[in-house]
Amino acid sequence: MVLRLLRYEFYCYLRVVILSGKQLSDNIKAQLAKEVATFPEKYGRVPHLAVVLVGDDPASATYVRSKGKACDLIGIQNTTIHLPQDTSEESLLEQIRLLNEDEGVDGILVQLPLPDHIDEMKALYAIAREKDVDGFHPENVAALWRRRTEPEDNPKYSVPCTPRGIIRLLKAADVEIEGKRAVVVGRSNIVGLPVAKLLLNENATVTICHSHTKDLGSITKEADILVVAVGEAGTVREGMVKPGAVVIDVGINRGQDGKLHGDVDFEGVKDIASVITPVPGGVGPMTICSLMENTVDCFINRQ
Ligand code: GUN
Repeated sequence: MVLRLLRYEFYCYLRVVILSGKQLSDNIKAQLAKEVATFPEKYGRVPHLAVVLVGDDPASATYVRSKGKACDLIGIQNTTIHLPQDTSEESLLEQIRLLNEDEGVDGILVQLPLPDHIDEMKALYAIAREKDVDGFHPENVAALWRRRTEPEDNPKYSVPCTPRGIIRLLKAADVEIEGKRAVVVGRSNIVGLPVAKLLLNENATVTICHSHTKDLGSITKEADILVVAVGEAGTVREGMVKPGAVVIDVGINRGQDGKLHGDVDFEGVKDIASVITPVPGGVGPMTICSLMENTVDCFINRQ
């Protein structure tokens, strides 16, 4: 008990590193802008990202606007196609088909979630694999689960944006991944599963937890690297984190106070972790930054 207290105290005295995704993503976007500026001379045009938004979900509309702003900053041409909530599945699939056939479009993103009457899988699978900037097409998913190399090694296959951004953030902070115990809380197709595979590619030993996991805290407490992506504020609290752990909070939850909160209780965990991402300003900006990189990769691969 005394030893455990001492260890806790030790970490309390060390300053936790608050890992800013905002700062890193600003740097990467500035680099991308320089690269994109050379494209008109090299390729005769700049990349073009088409984003399809169905319905009026305010959070989705905000995300889509942020994507457009990032494109404008970097010099990527971008088009948002806003379809009404009652758009039929056939109309959406037809819209995707038109974008697939448009030679001037390099990347296509259908913002999720889609209205209930549209089969999400049908829409995502309809996107041409080489224009799939989300990495959700089955061939891109298969490529991720098959290979062991980093996304940068084989840019032909897109890797989902948030997981790509998380690995980038860990590497920028010089977090050693190889041989570490990584625990991912959440098993979504967008974040949990792909980030677990990317951590595995980096030679971490990976455990995936989910809503049926028994005694979650006993598993999260073993993590050197803890990624939390469940979409529920306060999922990970003080007492569930190993002293000195690296904590990556993917959640973006609007609280009753009107503010954004992560899945991790930041105040309770920040003095125990050695590194922690804030919400907002942590993983969120990295997602958009990775989308920009995926768009540029798709453009280059199509040349
Ligand atoms: N909704 C929430 N995250 C994402 C994402 O990464 N891609 C898409 N298309 N929709 C989302």
